[in-house]
Amino acid sequence: MRGIAGKVTLITGGIRGIGKGIARRFVEEGAQVIVTGSKDVENARKTVEELSKLGKIESYMADLSDAGAIDKMIDDVVKKYGRIDILINNAGIQIREWATEFKVEDFDKVLGVNLRAYYLAARAAARYMKKQGGGSIVCISSGNSERYTTRRSAYNISKAAVNGLVGTLGVEWGRFNIRINGVAPGYVMTDMVQKGIDEGIIDVDNIMLVIPMKRFLQPEEIASSVCFLASDEASGITGQVLFTDGGWSRAGLPEQRDI
Ligand SMILES: NC(=O)c1ccc[n+]([C@@H]2O[C@H](COP(=O)([O-])OP(=O)(O)OC[C@H]3O[C@@H](n4cnc5c(N)ncnc54)[C@H](O)[C@@H]3O)[C@@H](O)[C@H]2O)c1
Repeated sequence: MRGIAGKVTLITGGIRGIGKGIARRFVEEGAQVIVTGSKDVENARKTVEELSKLGKIESYMADLSDAGAIDKMIDDVVKKYGRIDILINNAGIQIREWATEFKVEDFDKVLGVNLRAYYLAARAAARYMKKQGGGSIVCISSGNSERYTTRRSAYNISKAAVNGLVGTLGVEWGRFNIRINGVAPGYVMTDMVQKGIDEGIIDVDNIMLVIPMKRFLQPEEIASSVCFLASDEASGITGQVLFTDGGWSRAGLPEQRDI
């Protein structure tokens, strides 16, 4: 993909799941990758060990619910590499509960990581990108930004707001040659989804009724969309959200069989 090799690329939550798939793709494309995690030092170590066989990668630990830690993370990357070219806002959390029972502190927790951290990291990076003459930001949204499922109110709301964030900042930062876009994945088999299945909240058979492609996506398929939007191949695109969801967002009625 044009314009990825050699680029200083920070991927939040890149130590596992979808973020790790994105990290692998950027490492393979020749970027200098920094993946972040919060507490999971062992996963960070393993990911770096595995992906460093393919190219340049290191890890950085930061709790993204802490505004100060976000600014420090971006400052530290620029201190070390002299610039930040690409930011992938990927780290996210899910708490499942009926809206009537949802704890206020859990609502703040979900919005804090899924929305506030995206905004704070994007603007901290954009301050440097503006001085550098440009940059590219991709935010991981979700099919739940438009298809609302029960017991995920804070998550659905946070992801709908991510789409708004991408549009808003795309309009504000186009003049600085900073592009910001979103990728909205459908169901991808990661720890987050596995936890839902284990808790009995995600019913796989039921989900497949509304997914035209009738399968979970792989992190690599999300990584392809992210890499495209971050690259110079998408030089004319900003403020957009690319749904990468096996057709879920286009489905009407649940379909059990061909008729
Ligand atoms: N898995 C799916 O089907 C799916 C679908 C749509 C959207 N998404 C989105 O994709 C992104 C990645 O999801 P995933 O399935 O790989 O999840 P995951 O749970 O496997 O990984 C989440 C990552 O976020 C990081 N993280 C969580 N809280 C953090 C905090 N406070 N500070 C720093 N890092 C923190 C974790 O360390 C981890 O690396 C999320 O934004 C999620 O909402 C996932």
